Amino acid sequence: MKSLTRKRVLITGGAGFLGSNLADRMIAAGHDVLVADNFFTGTKDNILHLLDNPHFELIRHNITFPLYVEVDEIFNLACPASPIHYQFDPVQTTKTSVHGAINMLGLAKRVKAKILQASTSEVYGDPEVHPQVESYWGRVNCTGIRSCYDEGKRCAETLFFDYWRQYKLRIKVIRIFNTYGPRMHPNDGRVVSNFIVQALQNQDITLYGSGNQTRSFCYCDDLIEGMIRMMDSEDDFIGPVNIGNPGEFTIRELAEKVIAMTGSKSKIVYQPLPQDDPKQRRPDISLAKEKLDWQPTINLDEGLKRTIAYFDQLLTQRNSN
Ligand SMILES: NC(=O)c1ccc[n+]([C@@H]2O[C@H](COP(=O)([O-])OP(=O)(O)OC[C@H]3O[C@@H](n4cnc5c(N)ncnc54)[C@H](O)[C@@H]3O)[C@@H](O)[C@H]2O)c1
Repeated sequence: MKSLTRKRVLITGGAGFLGSNLADRMIAAGHDVLVADNFFTGTKDNILHLLDNPHFELIRHNITFPLYVEVDEIFNLACPASPIHYQFDPVQTTKTSVHGAINMLGLAKRVKAKILQASTSEVYGDPEVHPQVESYWGRVNCTGIRSCYDEGKRCAETLFFDYWRQYKLRIKVIRIFNTYGPRMHPNDGRVVSNFIVQALQNQDITLYGSGNQTRSFCYCDDLIEGMIRMMDSEDDFIGPVNIGNPGEFTIRELAEKVIAMTGSKSKIVYQPLPQDDPKQRRPDISLAKEKLDWQPTINLDEGLKRTIAYFDQLLTQRNSN
């Protein structure tokens, strides 16, 4: 028996950066949280503080295999998100997105749960439309080194929509744009964590290409708020909906900001642009504003301040061990 307001929530990938931040929010809101994670990129450290909570449960599980649990809502976040990690075992990456989606959709169908897919701006590939709107179909290479992630996520979206059409499943699809914040993996090569970790150690900051390529950066608390609003929205709004921060910065601007905010002695060094790296990225969030009454509230300076404080503490702890 469950209370009227307490939901049983499954978060796949809940030991990762976004999943663990979401788990905190759901526990704070009074729900029962079950995290399923195979710890490929996630870590127990991210959820250590929740392990003694009687409303929190953790299972080591790879979502490419079926899972049988009774839940009301499923947030499907399991999937390595950084190029270094998703290119480490590309076949497994596609399996996680595709087999994982099939297993989680099958579970949702069996227990009549609502299910949200953490999709990505990468479904737009290297876009010809700027900023990116949800109606844009994207420009994705299906045979390149990023394809395991991009095409895996695209196929997962297809599966979600087919389960909705075929079985009337209650689905929600969000397309997440670059998000950063505390609990990012310090060595996964994502641009914000990379720059901060390099700057805090006074190491050279590596810029790929000219540094003129743009990205928009969303602070994790804003992103999680958007994700929860999407899950709680009316059943007839299924997405896909962009969730991200439309503030656009060049990668060089970001590097300079991080150097200034950390007071670092780091120098900027340039390396060739990796294959299929998108040149610009910015979400059009009109749909999220209209349907979810959502927009980011934390600007880049404030978000960077909090993230720098997190990595500073992490590196200090590591150095003292
Ligand atoms: N952070 C971003 O900027 C961003 C942008 C777009 C999309 N997303 C999506 O959001 C989700 C979470 O991303 P994140 O940034 O927290 O990444 P992350 O790597 O920190 O978290 C992913 C989690 O999934 C787990 N995982 C991976 N494969 C699994 C499997 N087969 N079975 C069970 N667990 C598995 C990992 O161990 C990790 O805990 C991902 O699906 C990612 O594609 C993130």
